[in-house]
Amino acid sequence: MVLVIFVILTLVTYVSALHACPKCGSMEVPYPLSTNDNCGDPRYRVLCNNEILQFESAVGFHYKIISINPCVNKFVISPPLIPKNTCYASDLSLGGLKLDENSPFNISTHNTVMLFNCTETILLSPLNCSSNSFCRHYEEKVKEGSGCRGTLCCHFLKDSAMTAHRIRVRVGGCTAYTSVVDMKSGDDIDSWNYGIELQWMPPNYV
Ligand SMILES: *[C@@H]1O[C@H](CO)[C@@H](O)[C@H](O)[C@H]1NC(C)=O
Ligand SMILES: *[C@@H]1O[C@H](CO)[C@@H](O)[C@H](O)[C@H]1NC(C)=O
Ligand SMILES: *[C@@H]1O[C@H](CO)[C@@H](O)[C@H](O)[C@H]1NC(C)=O
Repeated sequence: MVLVIFVILTLVTYVSALHACPKCGSMEVPYPLSTNDNCGDPRYRVLCNNEILQFESAVGFHYKIISINPCVNKFVISPPLIPKNTCYASDLSLGGLKLDENSPFNISTHNTVMLFNCTETILLSPLNCSSNSFCRHYEEKVKEGSGCRGTLCCHFLKDSAMTAHRIRVRVGGCTAYTSVVDMKSGDDIDSWNYGIELQWMPPNYV
């Protein structure tokens, strides 16, 4: 009898560990994402702070999770704010977005990143820093980008040729950035889908 109860308890604990976490605010938290040790898979840690689902970077900055697509193991986080009248990303002091190389998360290849207030050395890179770069439209037409107006800026598609674990900003490099998911040239600026898409490796591969 004791053994049976023990087996049942073990099973219950095991099964519940494979369960999705409760909603965070109005957002579903699909398996394997985990907001606490009793649900999801703890390797896929995300945070539920005051009913807002967040992703914590390797250096401790919190990015709001704005959408999740569990069918393709992807979610989109909000790019850091660029406070009014500045051209500094709010994660600048931490060097921008940094993911733990050993975590199951990485930055997908669907992000068009715009960098602002760069120093001249950026021109040695293969990034698009021309006067018709998407970053120019952002500076000129979007309120949040107005603090970056007139600075040297560039855009690039963050594809598999680059590190999938960081978007770097620093004083003396570029000091602000934003990102658009699945940007197609010719898209109207009002339809840009701001965000940084991250993907996770399925649990059975980790
Ligand atoms: C830079 O990007 C703009 C906008 O997509 C494009 O029209 C232009 O041809 C690109 N320039 C270079 C040098 O790739
Ligand atoms: C651009 O970055 C430099 C440091 O690299 C900083 O001194 C300057 O204030 C920044 N410009 C704006 C508009 O924030
Ligand atoms: C990023 O993660 C996906 C899904 O796990 C994987 O297929 C891809 O190879 C990873 N990319 C890099 C550059 O690590």
